[in-house]
Amino acid sequence: MAKPILIANWKNHPGSLKEAENILSKISRNRRSYEKINLFIAPPHPYLAAVSSRTGSLFKLACQDMPALVKETSTGSVMPDILKSFGVRLSIIGHSEVRAQGETSEIVSQKVATALSAGIAPLVCIGEKERDRDGEQFGFLRDEIGRSLSSLKDGDAQKLVLAYEPIWAVGKDALGVIEPGDLSQTVIFIKRVLADIFGREMADKIPILYGGSVDSSNTRELVHNTGVRGLLVGRASLDASSLKTIAESLIEKE
Ligand code: PGA
Repeated sequence: MAKPILIANWKNHPGSLKEAENILSKISRNRRSYEKINLFIAPPHPYLAAVSSRTGSLFKLACQDMPALVKETSTGSVMPDILKSFGVRLSIIGHSEVRAQGETSEIVSQKVATALSAGIAPLVCIGEKERDRDGEQFGFLRDEIGRSLSSLKDGDAQKLVLAYEPIWAVGKDALGVIEPGDLSQTVIFIKRVLADIFGREMADKIPILYGGSVDSSNTRELVHNTGVRGLLVGRASLDASSLKTIAESLIEKE
């Protein structure tokens, strides 16, 4: 069985390199808690070097976005070969906070292709804005998954990681999180959509993560029997002790 995946999405935090180094030192002190998981840290770009210098058996480096197109000159963009040279192994793509700025699923699909051609694994985020009793979100999710993965060739599907992040649950408090029953139902649905696209055997290999207000108090119920193979964690990942508890809950699940 592959190790559970834990992604620390630092977003635009912490506020200084010194604080970033401080968090990394604290994470390193809890080394044993991360031995049985695949931990990725996705820092803001200016901290890539600091995180990169500490990668190794404890954690790997991820980035928070990918350019859609590789251009020779592009002011303000960080091209995938630069990210790769820092040791970036995985890229978050299609995060709801980026989609909210106008990123369409077609652009997400281009970013997936860019990541793969640079040898960086795409972690594609999908998730509905609202959940309703009639299950309207399922149609939305099917469409969003299909369009976001439209550039992906069958042979590359095994490099894909999918994160289900319902937008209504991102950045809320621990109680704003999804009900475990709703989560397992959605994971089953996502697997079915992936099976329709790539076939059952491949779909079973694609890890599905959950993200949205995960913290040390709710991890256990989110990962127990829900079918998720890991977590994408925002705020709580900046706190070394919360991250440690989350990692330990992921291991207990195994
Ligand atoms: P949150 O963020 O854990 O702070 O809700 C998750 C995310 O946006 O990836």
